[in-house]
Amino acid sequence: MTPALKKIFPEAQDFLPINGTDYVEFYVGNAKQAAHFYKTAFGFQSLAYSGLETGDSTKTSYVLTQDKIKLVLTTPMSGNTEIEKHITKHGDGVKVIALWVDDATKAWEETTKRGAKSYIRPNKTEDKNGIVVHSGIHTYGDTVHMFIERKNYTGIFLPGFEKWESAYNPTTVGLKYIDHMVGNVGWNEMNIWESFYRDIMGFANLITFDDKDISTQYTALMSKVMTNGNGRIKFPINEPAEGVKKSQIEEYLEFYNGPGCQHIAIATDNIIETVSEMKKRGVEFLHVPQTYYDTVLDRVGIIDEEINKLKDLNILVDRDEEGYLLQIFTKPVEDRPTLFFEIIQRKGAQSFGKGNFKALFEAIEMEQKKRGTLI
Ligand code: FE2
Repeated sequence: MTPALKKIFPEAQDFLPINGTDYVEFYVGNAKQAAHFYKTAFGFQSLAYSGLETGDSTKTSYVLTQDKIKLVLTTPMSGNTEIEKHITKHGDGVKVIALWVDDATKAWEETTKRGAKSYIRPNKTEDKNGIVVHSGIHTYGDTVHMFIERKNYTGIFLPGFEKWESAYNPTTVGLKYIDHMVGNVGWNEMNIWESFYRDIMGFANLITFDDKDISTQYTALMSKVMTNGNGRIKFPINEPAEGVKKSQIEEYLEFYNGPGCQHIAIATDNIIETVSEMKKRGVEFLHVPQTYYDTVLDRVGIIDEEINKLKDLNILVDRDEEGYLLQIFTKPVEDRPTLFFEIIQRKGAQSFGKGNFKALFEAIEMEQKKRGTLI
């Protein structure tokens, strides 16, 4: 950790240096069709493939990329496997949040020594492009962190994968990198997972939102944002809070059958272009009441974007001491009301849109009402 970053997150520990997110792996019921969706709707590009043709008869994986992001979509080839059980229990969802490290053996040793439950012991895989060392630990629910050491590897993705050549190549939509990934955990579990990320992973608590910060007339939740030392990895952890009606977190926990990844926030340099394109391609976004735009500029002051364009696209704005941000949430991308995406453009602001929480959560409640789960 550099001295400057040490100043930003003074309590973060550097026994687990992380270069960034390596990939996010979803377990899905039909990886071929899911890959088509993420290419078409989200502008991801075909990168790598593994399956029967590459000698893997147990599962098929498609790797998609856009700028710094890599998504892996994996489906089992037969029943009664760990992957199939995961899908039966959770529906399509995030299994692996993989972290890019320089030393996957040390990452595993340091975290398991501090109490992490091992998922995969340090292991080497290799092909003609070199060697990858990987290891893994469990986090909330059935979700895991893999540590990926790829400094001695020049291949397209990982050993066992081949380049995926596809004749269908929709253009990108300008998604750049993963800004943060949020975990939903059960009642009274937020502090347990805060300690996990602090004591076992060496992260620091960047910010805490209590149930007064995140509540509407009906529902509430609490959140703690955990960050690693260089700030490249941010994991907010949500838990439900008491409200008059069932919160979105409880709805998630019920349909996902336990804790899991609630949303992946992806950064863009031009949210108006990105969201316009995604809408054209069929991505569904949440609607906030149009009255939101009557007062937003009084709250955030001068911004570069035309307010009418933001209003047309339902993009929200918030400001902190360092600048402002623009953000929007998709509706869940599965039939179960579980995982969704956030698109975010930061113009100086390093926060998470606290000023928009109420409007966003009311918009989610409108969807819950339609689903009959706001009870
Ligand atoms: Fe977010």
